Amino acid sequence: MPSAHTNGAYHFPSGFLWGAATAAHQVEGSNVNSDLWVLEHVKPTLFAEPSGDACDHYHRYPEDIRLLAELGYNTYRFSIEWARIEPEPGRFSISQLDHYRRMLVACHENGLKPMVTFYHFSSPRWFAGLGGWEKLSGADAFVRYCERAAKHLGDLITLATTFNEPNLPALLRWVGNLNLPFTTARRMTRHAARATGAGQFVPFPMGDAGRVQEVMISAHHQAVQVIKSGPGSYPVGVSLAMQDEQAVGANSRRDRKCAEVYDPWLAAADKSDFLGVQAYTRARVGKSGDLGPEPGFELTQMGYEYWPDALEQTVRYAAARSSVPIYVTENGISTDEDTRRIDYIRTALDGLRRCLEDGIDVRGYIHWSLLDNFEWIHGYRPRFGLISVNRQTRERTVKPSARYLGDIAKRNSMSLAD
Ligand code: GCO
Repeated sequence: MPSAHTNGAYHFPSGFLWGAATAAHQVEGSNVNSDLWVLEHVKPTLFAEPSGDACDHYHRYPEDIRLLAELGYNTYRFSIEWARIEPEPGRFSISQLDHYRRMLVACHENGLKPMVTFYHFSSPRWFAGLGGWEKLSGADAFVRYCERAAKHLGDLITLATTFNEPNLPALLRWVGNLNLPFTTARRMTRHAARATGAGQFVPFPMGDAGRVQEVMISAHHQAVQVIKSGPGSYPVGVSLAMQDEQAVGANSRRDRKCAEVYDPWLAAADKSDFLGVQAYTRARVGKSGDLGPEPGFELTQMGYEYWPDALEQTVRYAAARSSVPIYVTENGISTDEDTRRIDYIRTALDGLRRCLEDGIDVRGYIHWSLLDNFEWIHGYRPRFGLISVNRQTRERTVKPSARYLGDIAKRNSMSLAD
């Protein structure tokens, strides 16, 4: 086997995927039929601002996809929006499905492999009104949508995931102890139910974590089947939210947390074609749960500790518990200092290299995010993008970090000197 090292550089395995990711609700704009749009507009709301026109990626995707390709990347990970595709239960919009076909065609025309997420946090408002992921009928609705979308799009898809971070409600149960205002969240959903004339409103990730996990795991397995029964032939997996979980002190609940938040989904991923690892930071877990950041530590705009080693540690954790190939489907940092982003990427990739050298089957690195975008309840303030977006004109500006990672992608190798 040829050495992966030559002239002070490390060569990633051939065919390695290099990409950037987005999610429909965060970039498209005017996702008015989604449950999140409703929650952004009720009072009180936890959202710092509404998503509005976002990055207008819905119309500007040709430019964004071309830019990504020109920078040297070979993969684009994006989500298709259920709220657009199925505006009413059982009624599918062919024109919206055609929109996503055009996006897939644009990827191929630019030499990018499309990785499609079928669900990235947003759903049609009617779905939340029916009880969302707390109801088994929610799984049926999702599977029906996946089947229809895969039938229309499957011949153009290179890789797909059913869910983005379905383990988030379970993770938030731990992280959320720290600061989520649950009372406001409950008031929001009550008002949303009233605003939409539904008796209830259960958006992801506000459902009961245990119940949501049961329903989503069942939905995942069924969705993999129906997606694979459609046209095309491509791997289907699931992406998980992961942190470098560190035990602090005696009687840490760290192992209990991992068993609750990761292991059921790692087992589910193991029955699929691949696992997507998404990692940003670490968590320190004491005897009564998450402890929050260590005092004095550098924090990102999200309030996360600057912790690029999270990538190596989470990939190792996942690889020890599953045997399917791993793709890094998200990794990134919210900062206005782009040099910090470059440092973060360099350190994270160094860790990924060590995983590969130890024989872990990692097949790609997809950075979060392609664009500065709508960071959920935090609005537009946190900046995760490789490309910035002017909030008035929507003009795109490529950051140095986009070129830094793009150059690694083009060469499929990184220098060990820097
Ligand atoms: C998530 C999502 C992304 C986020 C990103 C930064 O992890 O919440 O997949 O939509 O924007 O992780 O927080």
